[in-house]
Parts: sequence; C-alpha cells; structure tokens
Amino acid sequence: MKTLVTGGAGFIGTHLVERLLNDGNEVIVVDNFTLGKKENVDKFKNNKNYKFYMININNNEEFCEKLKNEKIDIVYHLAANSDIQKGGKNPEVDFRDTFMTTRGVLELMKKNNIKNLFFSSTSAIYGDEHDKLLTEDLGGLLPISYYGGAKFASENFISSYSYMNDFNTMIFRFPNVIGPNLTHGVIYDFSKKLLNNPNELEILGDGTQTKPYLYVLDLIDCIMLMSKEIKKGVNIYNVGVQTATSVTRIADIVCEELGYKNVVYKYTGGNIGWKGDVPKFQYDLTKIHSKGWKAKYNSDDAVRETVKSLKK
Ligand SMILES: NC(=O)c1ccc[n+]([C@@H]2O[C@H](COP(=O)([O-])OP(=O)(O)OC[C@H]3O[C@@H](n4cnc5c(N)ncnc54)[C@H](O)[C@@H]3O)[C@@H](O)[C@H]2O)c1
Repeated sequence: MKTLVTGGAGFIGTHLVERLLNDGNEVIVVDNFTLGKKENVDKFKNNKNYKFYMININNNEEFCEKLKNEKIDIVYHLAANSDIQKGGKNPEVDFRDTFMTTRGVLELMKKNNIKNLFFSSTSAIYGDEHDKLLTEDLGGLLPISYYGGAKFASENFISSYSYMNDFNTMIFRFPNVIGPNLTHGVIYDFSKKLLNNPNELEILGDGTQTKPYLYVLDLIDCIMLMSKEIKKGVNIYNVGVQTATSVTRIADIVCEELGYKNVVYKYTGGNIGWKGDVPKFQYDLTKIHSKGWKAKYNSDDAVRETVKSLKK
C-alpha cells in the first residue's frame, strides 16, 4: 500500500512510519518541522519505500501541487499543533496548524481521488464533562481549549468531506499518548525542569489532575489493526486505557526512575494546569475493545516505561 503520513516527523508519526515501513508499505511523509525533528526521520532515508516532503500543509496549493503525481491509498493525518499551552496563548496557532492542516488534507484527497483517511483526534473535543463516562456518541460537545475546538471542527469538516466525496474514514480520539521520543507533555517538561534544578520541581495546578496515559506502541498496534477495517462513512473510536495517573504520581515516577531524591514539589495551585486543561476524564472503551484490541500497558506502567526510555 502507498501511504501518506502527515506530521510523520513528530512523536507518534515516527513510530507509525517505522511500523508501516516494517510491514512493507510505501510511506510518504509530509512535515514542516514545527515540532517534529529532521533527526527523527533521517533514519528512514535509505529505505527505498520512503519519501519525504518538507511542506507546510496550510499552504494548500503547494501541498496539492507537490503531491499531484503520488497515487496514495490511505492518508494518516497526524499533523497538528500538539503544544496545547502554546495554542492557548494564541488561537491562530491551532486554527492554522490543527484545523487548516485538516482542510489541506481533505482538499488533497478530493483533488487526487484518495479514498481512505485515518485521523488523529483527541479527548479534548469532549471539553470538561467532569465525571461523565465519555462515549463516542455523546452529543452537545463543548470543547474548552482552542486545540479541542480546532480538532472538533476538523472532525466536522472530515464528516462533510467524507459524505460529499465518498471517503472511508476512521477517527481515533487519543488520550495522552507517551513513549520513546516524546516531543512534549508533562513527562517531558518534568525531566527538563529537573535537569535544570534537581532539588525543586514546579508542578502546574495542585497535582490531582488525573488522566489515562496510553503507551505509543499500544496505540500503533491499534492503528495497524483498525486500518484494515476502514469502511465507508465516518467511524469514530475512543482509544485508551482504563486506568489513569495523577500529575503528582507522574512526578514521583519521574524522580524514582531518574534517581532524583528529596525533590520539593512546588504546586502553582488550582485544579487545572492551565486554562483549557481538562483535569480529569474517563473514556468508555467498549467499542474499541470489541474489535479485539486492548492496551498492554496500564497508565502507570506507560509512564514508567516512558521515563526509562528518556533515561536511555
Ligand atoms: N501525543 C498526544 O498525547 C496526543 C493526544 C491526542 C491527540 N494527539 C494528536 O496526534 C497527532 C500526533 O501528535 P504528536 O504527539 O506526535 O505531536 P508532534 O508535535 O510530535 O507531531 C505533530 C507533527 O505535525 C507537524 N506539523 C505541525 N503543523 C504542521 C504544518 N502546518 N505542516 C506540516 N507539518 C506540521 C509537526 O512538525 C510535528 O512533526 C496530532 O494530531 C495530535 O494532535 C496527540
């Protein structure tokens, strides 16, 4: 199969590209290195099935023009702004890199007659539903971050393009995804802060924010399994783990694994890390589990494995 991975130089993208190549697929990566890194994809450059284009996907004309001769079977659309706090300071960031990249992909698919799409959505589209169990068919969603809003708008545009152009689409709503080669997120931030000051750790909020953390290789297994199932219309799945880890617990695991002792935690206070942060959520995973996939790592183990990989 000939595949296109947008955002393929990023954290999740790199793992996906590796698996797709190992399984014998042709892979085209498009990225502009906003957050992804050239070093992440350099290791693929001698593979005859791999091709890279440095394109800003917001620039729809350049994107469509440069890829016009590529006969693509499926697009894995991962390009987005994944730095939610950066987006929180400037809504333009998520409009441009989270929403307009999706529009760019949909136009490319329409022009090049590409029929299959996999989209990386997020729990942020649900907004803050407090203790409500999040099912895929929950209605009246009100995202609270610009990032969540841009992803939800992307889902809606995907739905209409899929209907109008007979696309077969799968949307995965990821929770927090972690693992080797992280580019962002709480574990990444804690390790950086502790390198600068091994005695004290600033923790955003009161540390009780508690979310499910999914190990990236579990996610890649799920994407590969479900790619075979892409059907006409829009098929939405929550993907995650049933357990969750608090921010203070993450700090404990980071300190334990990296060997920092007697670290003083300084909480910034309040029950959220930043405005737009959803402090707690829980997915209903019945739909994805019924397909025969379950994460191998629970949330705490995923955190621990990730810290170990950082240490290496
Ligand atoms: N990691 C998570 O916890 C998580 C959770 C939910 C959803 N997601 C989604 O999964 C996808 C991958 O996330 P990730 O963690 O690998 O993030 P990442 O930042 O490591 O990867 C995103 C990639 O997109 C690229 N990109 C951004 N804007 C672009 C543009 N205009 N043109 C071309 N390339 C562009 C970046 O350079 C980066 O390589 C994203 O869509 C993200 O929103 C991630």
